[in-house]
Amino acid sequence: MLNGKNILLAITGGIAAYKTPDLVRALKKDGADVTCVLSQSGAKFVSELALQSVSGNRVYTDLFSLSAEHEMGHISLARACDLVIVAPATAATMAKMAQGIADNLVTTLLLATTKPILLAPAMNWAMWENPATQENVKTLSGRGAHMIGPVVGELACGEEGMGRMADIEDIVSAAESTLELSGPLKGLHATVTSGPTHEPIDPVRYIANRSSGKQGHAIAGALAGLGASVTLISGPTNMDAPEGVKLVNVTTADEMMAAVNSCGQTDIFVGAAAVSDWRTVDTEKQKIKKQGPGTVPELKLMQNPDILKTVATIGISGGISGGLSNSARPMLVIGFAAETENLVENARRKLAAKGCDWILANDVSNETDTFGGNNNQVHLITRSGVEEWPRMNKRELAQKLAQRIADAFLSNSGHASAGNVS
Ligand code: C5P
Repeated sequence: MLNGKNILLAITGGIAAYKTPDLVRALKKDGADVTCVLSQSGAKFVSELALQSVSGNRVYTDLFSLSAEHEMGHISLARACDLVIVAPATAATMAKMAQGIADNLVTTLLLATTKPILLAPAMNWAMWENPATQENVKTLSGRGAHMIGPVVGELACGEEGMGRMADIEDIVSAAESTLELSGPLKGLHATVTSGPTHEPIDPVRYIANRSSGKQGHAIAGALAGLGASVTLISGPTNMDAPEGVKLVNVTTADEMMAAVNSCGQTDIFVGAAAVSDWRTVDTEKQKIKKQGPGTVPELKLMQNPDILKTVATIGISGGISGGLSNSARPMLVIGFAAETENLVENARRKLAAKGCDWILANDVSNETDTFGGNNNQVHLITRSGVEEWPRMNKRELAQKLAQRIADAFLSNSGHASAGNVS
């Protein structure tokens, strides 16, 4: 899978560094050429000589080494690879990356590289859970860094918890998917909308709904996991972007529509957002004051754009080279139908009305915990039939859907078209 790929492996100062010769071996076995960069503290846990022996390449250790600058300056080193892996990635290295600090060879390379970066964090569980680290991870993921792990297990300090470096084979497969070398959806672009939209009434009040974004975010992550390049357009949620997904944050339905139209060529569109149907005609510039008792303000509402219907019937306007005349319809357009009664019948009607290919119909009546909860139960409605899926965790459902999408593309030799997918 990694045949012919050049990987720069940066090793920073965690005890998990002692596993990196095995990582080098596994990457090489997968076809990669590996060059190691060892930080000063990393060198306390693994020797330069061991890394040089297994990689068969010179190991770079010092930013100011004249011979290194002579053979290959740090800028060229940062660019002469297809992928940079940082394993283990310590809390300190990630904090420096988030701040743009370049004070040693590893952090300088990380700042200078234009190549994808895969981080395999390893640290004590409390360091991992610390809001400072979490904030840094969020920042780095938001900037496109890929993450693998950490995982739960026994830690070097003797404690148990989330902080162990991911297993070697998982780092190798993350390297493959970071380079989009694997997965049945490789080469396809998916756009997923998620979360609610907020429609302002005045500077402090807005119209919203109870969508958490859990399902849409999980679908984006699952599609990326199968190799698709994914743009996730999300309304306000508390969710982090899944690994390997490009996140675009929006607030209103209008902004969501504009963001969808800026996505460029899209093969798969999943409209999982709970887009507000209406917005106020005028947003008050000042907070609306309470009037006398019994007097309530009247809100005049207007229709929001129907994003799913627009994508399914007109296409994505920037689809080819921008402008409505160049709209391109994604090959597969999937919507959700949140219903409280006559689930299948209403969803079937919606499939036709919106012009989409598949609808996932879910029951959001009061007795279900679908909105905000971790589970979901859907019926998959296509033009050729209805399937009732069992109640399952939203992540599992996302994976089942992503696999179903992949099967559709494969069975159509790369072309899923409306109606012939069941
Ligand atoms: O029309 P309704 O809200 O019932 O349809 C739900 C589906 O339509 C969801 O997939 C949702 O993302 C999408 N939708 C949309 N734009 C709207 C309303 C709903 O994309 N304005």
